[in-house]
Amino acid sequence: MARYLGIDVGTSGVKALLIDECGAVRASAHAEVPFATPKPGWSEQDPHDWWSATERCLAEIGEAPDAIGLTGQMHGSTFLDERGEVIRPALLWNDQRTAAQVEAIERTVGSKRIRQITANPPLTGFQLPKLLWLRDVEPAAFARVRQVLLPKDYIRYRLTGTYTTEVSDASGTGAFNVAERSWSPEVFQALKLDPTWFPACHESDVISGDWKGIPVVGGGGDQAAGAVGTGAVVPGLISVSLGTSGVVFAAQDDAAYDPAGATHTFCHANRSWHRMGVMLSCGGALRWFRDVFAPGMSYDEIAAMAATVESEGVVFLPYLAGERCPWNRSDLTGAFVGLTLAHGMPHLARAVFEGITMGIADALDAVSPGVKPDRLRVTGGGARGAFWRQMLADMTGVPVVTLAVDEGPAYGAALLAGVGAGRWKTVIEATAEVVRETETTLPKRDLGELLARQRSTVRAQIG
Ligand code: XUL
Repeated sequence: MARYLGIDVGTSGVKALLIDECGAVRASAHAEVPFATPKPGWSEQDPHDWWSATERCLAEIGEAPDAIGLTGQMHGSTFLDERGEVIRPALLWNDQRTAAQVEAIERTVGSKRIRQITANPPLTGFQLPKLLWLRDVEPAAFARVRQVLLPKDYIRYRLTGTYTTEVSDASGTGAFNVAERSWSPEVFQALKLDPTWFPACHESDVISGDWKGIPVVGGGGDQAAGAVGTGAVVPGLISVSLGTSGVVFAAQDDAAYDPAGATHTFCHANRSWHRMGVMLSCGGALRWFRDVFAPGMSYDEIAAMAATVESEGVVFLPYLAGERCPWNRSDLTGAFVGLTLAHGMPHLARAVFEGITMGIADALDAVSPGVKPDRLRVTGGGARGAFWRQMLADMTGVPVVTLAVDEGPAYGAALLAGVGAGRWKTVIEATAEVVRETETTLPKRDLGELLARQRSTVRAQIG
């Protein structure tokens, strides 16, 4: 039986997942990667650490697969010199140091034009402003740049020796023409950047090179690959990822984008496009609550505590790291609002669950305005909690379903490897064959009024 390996270069570590040609998981490996915040708002990793973690995972898996697919954290910048050596630590997706460079892009390319080309507003987290930051702030390092790679594509370079990316991850650089599915010469020219510094770009299911004779397939950014793993590859089927960040994801047939910029429109890994709403602190806000207020408690224990009460007027604003969808404001902060002497820990815990679920409901409204989907496929750590799934169903009024395999982006990358190797003809064919729904949580209680109250509190707070 053929085997396909997905490698996910995540922020907390690298994960490798081996599946067979029926989509069943055969083995997995994980290796942690350190993370640095040298200054507030900065977020960096050393690309060499991604590679050594990948090597450890490959060694642990042991077995040679028939093809490899790559995925990983999006938007990061690996700067390489003419010898392919890393120049400095990579700036990551959640790095916020580039506000001045984003403004420069708005000014130089033009606010309207950059949105027409890239289908998105330029954002501090995207790759392009990071390169401009290097030019502005570290000119000696910039002078050595000959190639800029996304995190997973640095691993591709180490595996195959090629400078190559694929359309879904390239869409998150801020220099990519999303409708045309190719780099934008106009953006490079306007910003006086050398187009040869950007890797060759193919569709996500195309073979980009080989590692010891094993084909390495394009793969996808973590959200696109994750959506391949959940089967969100046909319009109407919406997936929700409840991880550190929270993402509502929908495939679409064209490159139509949101002029207000609340959602991202990117190329999908299925040769089509997708829209997604990204909230920055979802499970991350729950982790913060646990670490600060309830160290030592498990998430299940916190959920059980939250289930004993109503929030009774306490509203939690989940914007602990600013927010993308629907606000696109890096200056937003988190808050508990409406506290009285009558409130205790259980009320705070419940309010946190309600606040992050409101964030997902906001993203759902932005991704699918006015159209209620028939169900939401949930994945990620948060999908395992029955309490949270019920709250999501109640607050959105949409049934929530879990999936038989919930292995995240690495699973989608492994399926893309299978498509590239010819096991399945298309991504849609692969997901139709292997993705299975398991448990359905139906809405039980109408939380529409609570949601409306939360939203008006948020508006009053953030102006
Ligand atoms: C997507 C996004 C995150 C990162 C890190 O736009 O910012 O999903 O890719 O996981």
